[in-house]
Amino acid sequence: MNILDFESHKSARQKISMVTCYDNWSAKILEETDVDCILVGDSLAVVMHGFDSTVHATIEMMELHTAAVTRGAPSKFVVADMPFLSVSRGLEYAMECVHRLMQAGANAIKIEGDKPHQIELVEHIVDAGVPVMGHLGLTPQSIHSFGGHKVQGKQAEKADQVQKGALALQAAGCFALVLECVPIKLGGCVSAALSIPTIGIGAGPHTDGQVLVLHDLLGVDPSFKPKFLRRFANSHDLVAGAVNQYHQEVQEQSFPSLKESYK
Ligand code: KIV
Repeated sequence: MNILDFESHKSARQKISMVTCYDNWSAKILEETDVDCILVGDSLAVVMHGFDSTVHATIEMMELHTAAVTRGAPSKFVVADMPFLSVSRGLEYAMECVHRLMQAGANAIKIEGDKPHQIELVEHIVDAGVPVMGHLGLTPQSIHSFGGHKVQGKQAEKADQVQKGALALQAAGCFALVLECVPIKLGGCVSAALSIPTIGIGAGPHTDGQVLVLHDLLGVDPSFKPKFLRRFANSHDLVAGAVNQYHQEVQEQSFPSLKESYK
């Protein structure tokens, strides 16, 4: 997958699959899978660092995790998130963050929002030769102004805003757009209105692709059950079972065996 494949996938009606990844060992596994592209999402602040929101992701975290992922999955198209407020602290700071993420090995960056200064910044970054993925609907960096993780664009006026924002981001040069937690109909309408692909999470089946947090699709946290999530494995039980088995075999002194010991 390269930047040109995003549009050609859309024209061919071939769905795009994207997953998040934050570390080197899981990047090495993803490198061997068919998944189309990887997102080093700022959700790493929650999943990897235990914070309660993506507001806590810093450029240092994003840079470190992006470099670990790109070293593990050199053939995958990797998108890295611009962290909280990095796009609102002036052009110079925003470009420094873009520079750091691209030098960490990203192939593109992702920006949340469609405010005038964000659209202007997208144009500037695209002009500088860096591909930008947009992100609308529930943009988690703004949860404090949304009053929590709530489905966006339910009322006609709000849906219209999402649609207009999507068109503005496309005009500014975005090559793809993440649509998060919007009603199924809006997901379909925005996807039909754009020539660039939409990648949905909680946006229904009519977007041009889907993205999930890797840990969620693997079932790492059984208590996290948003409506949109399908678990493709039960890693929580798998990991806990393996560690308990290891503990038991250490207690029984059946691990390590002679075969697992040096002469
Ligand atoms: O940070 C993230 O994981 C994301 C996806 C949920 C789209 O932005």
